Amino acid sequence: MVTKNRTKFYVTTPIYYVNDVPHIGHAYTTIIADALARFHRLCGHEVFFLTGTDEHGQKIERAASERGLKPKELADQVVLRFKDLWLALNISYDFFIRTTEPFHEKGVQKIFQKLKDKGDIYKGIYKGWYCISDENFLAEDVPLEPSGEKICPDCGKKAILVSEECYYFRLSAYQQKLLDFYAANPDFVRPPGRMNEVVSFVRQGLKDLSITRTTVKWGIPVPDDPQHTIYVWFDALHNYVTGIGYGWNNELFERFWPADLHLIGKDILRFHAIFWPAFLMAAELPLPRTVFGHGWWLKDETKMSKSKGNVLDPHIILDAFGPDPLRYFLLREIPLGQDGNFSHEGFLHRVNSDLANDLGNLVQRTLTMIWNYFQGKIEGAEPENQSDLALKEAFSQLKEKVKILFEDYAINRALEEIWAFINQLNKYLADNEPWKLASIKEKRGRLARILLECARGLWGIAYLIYPVMPASAEKIWEMLGEKRPISSLKFHEINPDLFSADNQMQKPEALFPRVSLQDFLGREIKKEVRMEQKGEMISFDEFKRMDLRVAEVIKAERVPGTDKLLRLEVNIGDETRTMVAGVAETYSPEDLIGKKIVVIVNLKPAIIRGIESQAMLLAAEVGGRAIIPFFDRDVPAGAKVK
Ligand code: MSP
Repeated sequence: MVTKNRTKFYVTTPIYYVNDVPHIGHAYTTIIADALARFHRLCGHEVFFLTGTDEHGQKIERAASERGLKPKELADQVVLRFKDLWLALNISYDFFIRTTEPFHEKGVQKIFQKLKDKGDIYKGIYKGWYCISDENFLAEDVPLEPSGEKICPDCGKKAILVSEECYYFRLSAYQQKLLDFYAANPDFVRPPGRMNEVVSFVRQGLKDLSITRTTVKWGIPVPDDPQHTIYVWFDALHNYVTGIGYGWNNELFERFWPADLHLIGKDILRFHAIFWPAFLMAAELPLPRTVFGHGWWLKDETKMSKSKGNVLDPHIILDAFGPDPLRYFLLREIPLGQDGNFSHEGFLHRVNSDLANDLGNLVQRTLTMIWNYFQGKIEGAEPENQSDLALKEAFSQLKEKVKILFEDYAINRALEEIWAFINQLNKYLADNEPWKLASIKEKRGRLARILLECARGLWGIAYLIYPVMPASAEKIWEMLGEKRPISSLKFHEINPDLFSADNQMQKPEALFPRVSLQDFLGREIKKEVRMEQKGEMISFDEFKRMDLRVAEVIKAERVPGTDKLLRLEVNIGDETRTMVAGVAETYSPEDLIGKKIVVIVNLKPAIIRGIESQAMLLAAEVGGRAIIPFFDRDVPAGAKVK
């Protein structure tokens, strides 16, 4: 639903864990927020765009100790990587919050104390299972494995057993209040399917929530009881209020709170749609307007995440293309709530067809003709005819549609509409064939008019794509001789007539160079080599830690519902293992049965599509496909590979 009469727009991203460097999944949420923030600024709304890092908790404590660092040292390093990436992606955040900053810690303690004083926080004992990777307490009904352990149903990792004194938040007291709130505010959770998930979860009953730990030291101390540290999610969620002045700048806080939009991935919906509003109700603060749970970028059918080792480094794409193609691809390819599969082929296809062909060529052809026929300054255009006026009318309709779609967070639909207009302009050019008029003296006025309309259309297109592709939009304006920055014109006043026919235009430069898959993959390989040269070599001792074995495939079948995955059973000498391999695009199950391959057998198992994968095969990746190396003579299963 469109929020009318808006004067301000406060948008947030999740604050990202600093256990590892950012990847395309993190970039996705932040790019969405940036495009929306830029759009609302164009509309003249007062915008506050908050992002930052989540730096406390057991996950960070553990990641730091694995690297021999103090948690704050690790955070300081990783924060720079996030900030670098946001700079490279042209992210226009207004404030970057770190949860280790004193103003945040004080704000969280203040709210904790307030809730304790009013009886919403009380002391008890927690005994149960905890997933460090998700920083989440497991529900009691998660079954015990035969090994006597519990596996986190969300991420598939082993949970740890916790038994300690803690403070509880009286979540159960907010069950009905939450249900009433959802009923009165159907747009609180979007898309609607996610709202249904939340409502049915809450209807099943809410238990009180443990919100402190004594066995975790890396966190905000509980006021007056410092051997307890505050649970990382209680700490982190409050960044949305402390980041906007709660406890340190009341005027700012009053101006922007409540948030208009919390953008999050669907993985952290419950924290935002259940815990967060309950905490706010308890603190007697207004509730955010919308929590939007977007989908995931998948690689090989599984969620891209560092712990699964299937992340894509955005810098490889940024080095080759700059920020706009990646911003465009991520926002255009999938509607906000859905998952998408990231492939280099898919990325290049979109960039080459939508950006290089449709838009890039249009800019190139128009400006080349304006330069060749008018030395960059159009003169003597005759009056508009019907087809020129139709173009103008189409733009004004487009502008209204784009506004409604952006207001409704349907960015991919807005881009579709803009591209329909780009193609209409391409057709206008093809129908009017200005190149045929260039040599006819009496047609010069018509030639000028056609090129002027194209330049105006491009000027309008650049304005509309600015939230998604700010650098390219500014570049197009510059080539069109426009001196005003895009952000100086408000959305409601935009109209192609504002483009002056007197502009001195430039000779075109390629906006989006075409890149072939081979060149692109070549860069990726070079980048890996560069990384190695940067000192990220491993020692022989580290190599020796890998237990590589010859394995004979005894059974192979497709993993249902996937195109890429095979489930294999392999014999590694004295044992049979099950594994999931992303090779189905290159090999059918029959191709592999009886074959001997190389697998690593001491890699931590991973759950892929509900199957525990207990080994990983070695393969070359060529053009996104896996090619398995086979032996040139017979070798026994179980033989060591060194
Ligand atoms: N620190 C918590 C959030 C606290 S907010 C008060 C956290 N951090 S995270 O580093 O794991 O990042 C989570 C967010 O990154 C997801 O919710 C999502 O927005 C984004 N993504 C991470 N991987 C993703 C994909 N593969 N695809 C799309 N977005 C993903 O959870």
